[in-house]
Amino acid sequence: HSNKLNYTLTPEGHHAKLTGLEGAKAPAINKTWLEVETQYLVIQLSETLQVGKIYWLYMEFQGELANDLRGFYRSEYFEDGVKKVVATTQMEPTDARKAFPCFDEPAMKAVFHMTLIHPSVKLNIKTTITLRNQNVLQTKFKPTLKMSTYLVAFVVSEYSSIRTAAETDVLVRIWARRTAIEAGHGDYALSITGRILDFFQSYYNSKYPLPKSDQIALRDFDAGAMENWGLITYRETSLLYDPITSSNKDKEWVSTTIAHELAHMWFGNLVTMKWWNDLWLNEGFATYVSYLGVDDVQPTWNIKDLMVMTETHKAFAFDSNKFSHPLSLPEEEVKTPAQINALFNTITYSKGGAVLRMLSEFLSEPVFARGLSAYLKQFAYGNTVYTDLWGKLQEVRLSVNLPATISEIMNRWILQMGFPVVTIDTRTGNITQNHFLSDADSKPSRSSPYNYEWFVPISWMKNGTVMDRYWLLEKNGNDSTHDPLKTNSEWVLANVNVSGFYRVNYDPQNWQRLLSQLSTDHSVIPVLSRAQIVDDAFNLAKANMINMSLALRTLSYLSEEREYLPWQSAIKHLNTFINRFRHTEVNTKMQKFLWSKVQPLFHYLKNITADWTEILSSHTNQYNQLNAISLACTAGVEDCLDLTKMWYRQWMKNPDKNPIKHSMRSTVYCNGIAAGGSEEWEFAWNLYKKSVDDAEAELLIYILSCTRKPELLNRYLNYMLDPNMVQKKHVNYVIRHVANNVVGQPLAWDFIRANWSNILKEQKHASFFTILYFTTKSFSTEVELKKVCKEGLTMF
Ligand code: BES
Ligand code: ZN
Repeated sequence: HSNKLNYTLTPEGHHAKLTGLEGAKAPAINKTWLEVETQYLVIQLSETLQVGKIYWLYMEFQGELANDLRGFYRSEYFEDGVKKVVATTQMEPTDARKAFPCFDEPAMKAVFHMTLIHPSVKLNIKTTITLRNQNVLQTKFKPTLKMSTYLVAFVVSEYSSIRTAAETDVLVRIWARRTAIEAGHGDYALSITGRILDFFQSYYNSKYPLPKSDQIALRDFDAGAMENWGLITYRETSLLYDPITSSNKDKEWVSTTIAHELAHMWFGNLVTMKWWNDLWLNEGFATYVSYLGVDDVQPTWNIKDLMVMTETHKAFAFDSNKFSHPLSLPEEEVKTPAQINALFNTITYSKGGAVLRMLSEFLSEPVFARGLSAYLKQFAYGNTVYTDLWGKLQEVRLSVNLPATISEIMNRWILQMGFPVVTIDTRTGNITQNHFLSDADSKPSRSSPYNYEWFVPISWMKNGTVMDRYWLLEKNGNDSTHDPLKTNSEWVLANVNVSGFYRVNYDPQNWQRLLSQLSTDHSVIPVLSRAQIVDDAFNLAKANMINMSLALRTLSYLSEEREYLPWQSAIKHLNTFINRFRHTEVNTKMQKFLWSKVQPLFHYLKNITADWTEILSSHTNQYNQLNAISLACTAGVEDCLDLTKMWYRQWMKNPDKNPIKHSMRSTVYCNGIAAGGSEEWEFAWNLYKKSVDDAEAELLIYILSCTRKPELLNRYLNYMLDPNMVQKKHVNYVIRHVANNVVGQPLAWDFIRANWSNILKEQKHASFFTILYFTTKSFSTEVELKKVCKEGLTMF
């Protein structure tokens, strides 16, 4: 493979030279050429090479160190007014070939011997040599382990670093801009990395095979982070944590990202998928176990439960669409770099993670981990397909009672898209499954080898008692009744703690019994299940499988709820209603309803924070606090409006001494701007114009969109077209945020229609799909549909 490299031809006019080593005789080169389309350098030999002989292929080439975020690329930043350049790499999935010619496929593992010759920046390993009359340094690296090309990385920089004490087993270093390191922004990462590495060493029962683990924060970085073996690269916001200005959400992100990349050191790096069609083995795995890693270092966060929101729910949403795709695709469907890149998506990450969580739940974690360990041992430094994993798990399964082999169970989850909705009729004990599609009238876009039937592990409880797991193996087969599910007055709850990747529907009586239980004593139902009841109900209602009024009744008990997960689940669905009805005559009633539900939570949190002055110790309560304040302000509660306005005023009076805790800023200020007028808006706008910090600028870009004043929103939209006003990289955000605001939505739509050609011409960063999606996503009527079809089409 070779892409965007310019070769110096040999005297014979070839791109390469071939020499035999250790007595081997190299065949002559007939012809060499570049296949630009498929990114190959072709070397045609007069004879075939011989197995067991060693040959040396030599090439001289040049590439541009462009700031294109791919292959070997350039990144820039300013330090004390001086421009600094960083040369760094991003190979995955198919850009190692843009750094050097290579066999750029995950299964073609090799040992890399690398020597870099670079400008004489201060580095700790140095040999000075002279090259083209310049004094340069030469850095020679130890040979790598046997590894895939997409995991190779090297960075040349003037960064500083911090490191673990000399006596530690594995040397851990955090690299970043000198000022960031001096400010202590790498300290948090350093404090958790070694512990997470230790956790994975024992979870996988496999030693980290390198003597060191470097992690580096880069200004210009396309993904969130990249698991290069021994030198993990991160976007700055994914590695650096500033205890003063970062929020607990930021801390969570840094922790999960680090855990995710460290998980790859085994799953991905030591054992690699054979080809990209099984990318989910890499990414789904890292996604799942990253939550275990974070849980180990932050046991009070309840992060394993949060995974259901961040991964499972996201996957449900994506995978209930008829255009979804199976986790593992046939190899033929994944050939070109574009097809490979398209696989880094919600299915691969979130569904992959959720399905593995299900597998671990029904096998139990110790058995699952034992299987992984055996798998890693057998396939270390090699490549695998998913059946290798099923095979190993099958071997260690031991006493776990299963209705079929692991591969029979799991193939149904990974070789067909979608997931089932399980319907339980407690009047008869009947239990059935159907492919769940959010649009009940749609048909899946591809056929399935298993006819959209799954082997579903049904964990369930009856009136609060956990019952034996039941396996639902058919759609409507003979065994479609399970007698214990038949009840008179007791409620049945299935998929306890969302341990399976499916939704559940019940007969009306059982729904009613669940609702009663929620109202009388919700604590009998586990917290994740409470969140799930709400989410299932709303999604079933949207798919016309139950009445929306039933879904709404799952919210009745919320006045008693203090936990974050059910609230978050409810708020996601409530927002749809809030946006639909804000400008209708039912708004006042809706606001009243909202307040009646959130008032107790609001006051509870207000109390335990001594009138919002003290920081909550609980991670999820901090999120709760934001939800409660947002909702109370949406409900128009004076207490809340006055509070946010007052906070905002304090900030305006003293911009340098901001009294609001960072994790609360976006919510508080957004509501402050919404409750305020042009003075509040101007204040934030002036700060944006002066802002130098990325995170601060993004916060301001968001809160500016929160005003309810059309003239300000229009002004904001107009500024967006002027790069002197709104920075180009923020243009997408402006459209998105303004369109998310109920007042702003029609304005954004009118604006982009009127200015479309301008937007396209000026704004390289504005993407067609994002813009169209965000400006129309709240449309819900026939009239609006016609509007998009008619006006939308003329504009493009
Ligand atoms: N291997 C990926 C990085 C990657 C993503 C490379 C897309 C090429 C294309 C890495 O392990 C990863 O998954 N990073 C995530 C962050 C993670 C915390 C989910 C990312 O970059 O978003
Ligand atoms: Zn990953």
